[in-house]
Amino acid sequence: MSAPNKSYDPVEVEALKPEEIGRARDEALDAIAAAEDLDALREAKAAHAGNASPLALANREIGALPPQARAEAGKRVGQARGEVGRALAARQEELEAERDERMLVEEAVDVTLPYDRLPAGARHPITTLSERLEDVFVAMGYEVAEGPEAEAEWFNFDALNMLPDHPARTESDTFYVEGAAGGPSGTVLRTHTSPVQIRSMLDREPPIYVICPGRTYRTDEPDATHAPAFHQIECLAVDEGITMADLKGTLDHMVQALFGGEGMRTRLRPDYFPFTEPSAEMDMVCYVCRGESVGNPDRPCRTCSSEGWIELGGCGVVNPRVLVACGIDPDRYSGFAFGFGIERMLMFRNNVRDFRDMTEGDVRFTQPFGMEV
Ligand code: DAH
Repeated sequence: MSAPNKSYDPVEVEALKPEEIGRARDEALDAIAAAEDLDALREAKAAHAGNASPLALANREIGALPPQARAEAGKRVGQARGEVGRALAARQEELEAERDERMLVEEAVDVTLPYDRLPAGARHPITTLSERLEDVFVAMGYEVAEGPEAEAEWFNFDALNMLPDHPARTESDTFYVEGAAGGPSGTVLRTHTSPVQIRSMLDREPPIYVICPGRTYRTDEPDATHAPAFHQIECLAVDEGITMADLKGTLDHMVQALFGGEGMRTRLRPDYFPFTEPSAEMDMVCYVCRGESVGNPDRPCRTCSSEGWIELGGCGVVNPRVLVACGIDPDRYSGFAFGFGIERMLMFRNNVRDFRDMTEGDVRFTQPFGMEV
């Protein structure tokens, strides 16, 4: 800025002449009108209204005028700057409106277009079948019980009357987490859900009605019918006067609830388990042919190989030694128990051909099951 000028020197205030101010204003208004987009307008603003613009420079010269000339020059510059400022604001508004309109058109989303997002998964059919089984028993007044997957050997074997030399206790059948087969009691990955029977009896007073689905482990090589990790479901009822007839009625009800329709029932064949006495293998009527394929070559059944029955699992009357191990008086109470593999049931219930399909986690397998089995 020039120093105050006592003797009015017209050269020094050239920039404040009306023609100069008018020219600077007109140039500014032309540039603003010519700006075709917001970037161009920003440039016009810097050039014509910024700190180094002719009008800003002129404004700074006002101080160099003799006091009597300042008011008039100030008014002139102020008016010009005001006009430029208003023109800038108006053009800014116009260009923003144009931009918004263009964006609405260019960036419109067509919500009717097909989308290519990742497909949604589905709950695993083992989970939904477990829950379905739970529901059948909860409806009869049973409680769902749980136990740990890494289980004390005592719960998994000893309390179930499986003696130390029982073949299932060897390392060729059982995963040991702590300790070793034949050594002092260690920890194993539970080989069946039966230890939950023991935990349930220790936790509760009879009458006891529990259903326990869960993951179990055995040292099996994966193939079409085996996996080292699989699922079982265990049922235990302990009350006064429980007999094998209660077991049979419960099993019949379960297969009817799960497979529906006429003629669904179970049969028991003698077997041996250390924790039940007597023990049995339980079969259910083939839910596909309902037994009609037996001795009927015209109507073969692939599901049961025309045998009419499908093997389900093991069951029996709870061995009194097991009740005693859990502090339950075997003279007053008796019980029944059964257990079977959930994968196996899913395989014949839903025509799953290979065990590995259920463990590989491929959504193409789970998806067709949807939310319910
Ligand atoms: N725990 C047995 C297994 O894994 C199945 C079983 C048999 C469970 C008899 C029971 C039972 O509750 O009473 O092979």
